[in-house]
Amino acid sequence: MSMWRIALFDAAMKNTIVTTARKTSDEMKILAENTARKLNLKFVERKDFSADALKKIYGAENILIAKKNSLNLLTEEGELFFHPNTAHLRIKNLRQGLGDRLITAGKISNGMKILDCTLGLGSDAIVESFAVGESGKVTALEINPVIAEIVRHGMKNFSDDNEHILKAMRRVEILTTDYLNFLKSAENNSFDVVYFDPMFRHALKKSSGINPIRPVADNRALTVEAVQEACRVAKNFVVMKENSKSHEFERLSFEIADGGKYSPISFGVIDCRTKN
Ligand SMILES: C[S@@+](CC[C@H](N)C(=O)[O-])C[C@H]1O[C@@H](n2cnc3c(N)ncnc32)[C@H](O)[C@@H]1O
Repeated sequence: MSMWRIALFDAAMKNTIVTTARKTSDEMKILAENTARKLNLKFVERKDFSADALKKIYGAENILIAKKNSLNLLTEEGELFFHPNTAHLRIKNLRQGLGDRLITAGKISNGMKILDCTLGLGSDAIVESFAVGESGKVTALEINPVIAEIVRHGMKNFSDDNEHILKAMRRVEILTTDYLNFLKSAENNSFDVVYFDPMFRHALKKSSGINPIRPVADNRALTVEAVQEACRVAKNFVVMKENSKSHEFERLSFEIADGGKYSPISFGVIDCRTKN
């Protein structure tokens, strides 16, 4: 089942072509060619074609564009590219002792090993990485190979004046895989916390910087099997983020860690410390 899901994503993204920005450079061309080779996708010369024209000529659904410092995927909901987004403010809050809801929910602290099962655009993974520091480790999983590559490239190359953000993002390890596959082969208690931020069952369209990811993300619901595996692998907690009004917390036996009373988002927790 899991191998089938990865194959499904590989096949869906095969319909992606890779090119450069219109005003191109040798650097962009090398990035586009290398990325196409790595992802086993077709590289095409941009020439002076618009993105739409290229999509038509090559019958492609998606177009991945190598720009000066980033890889940008054009999806029907907008342009998907790496940016630390809310990680800036959240790390500032943590440094000022103001806390962070995810870090508090999972009781994440210095030196811990975190498994982030749903990388997406990586903001949560950067915040986790800051919280565990140099002696800890964040491993982040993403099933869509193009999303994983955009964020992997971004976390490695994005420049930021804030050295805390920079160091935190450089330390995140990104793996392209289905979390169920990974969890099944992971040893008991091999991470302190396992985190899921699945695509919400009911999207918060208004607030969402995540819109461009929607057409290419794995939108399937978290399963009871994955949560049970996660609890076997987590020494301390499994944490899930969801829409506050979601019934997913109940269905998957998560306790709400902090009220979603004034927020459209809640964090649910399963305490796995007593499982043995
Ligand atoms: C809501 S986004 C995560 C956002 C992320 N927490 C952030 O801070 O940007 C969910 C991501 O998980 C990925 N995903 C969903 N199911 C997955 C699976 N079975 N294995 C790995 N990744 C998965 C989706 O493709 C999507 O990119």
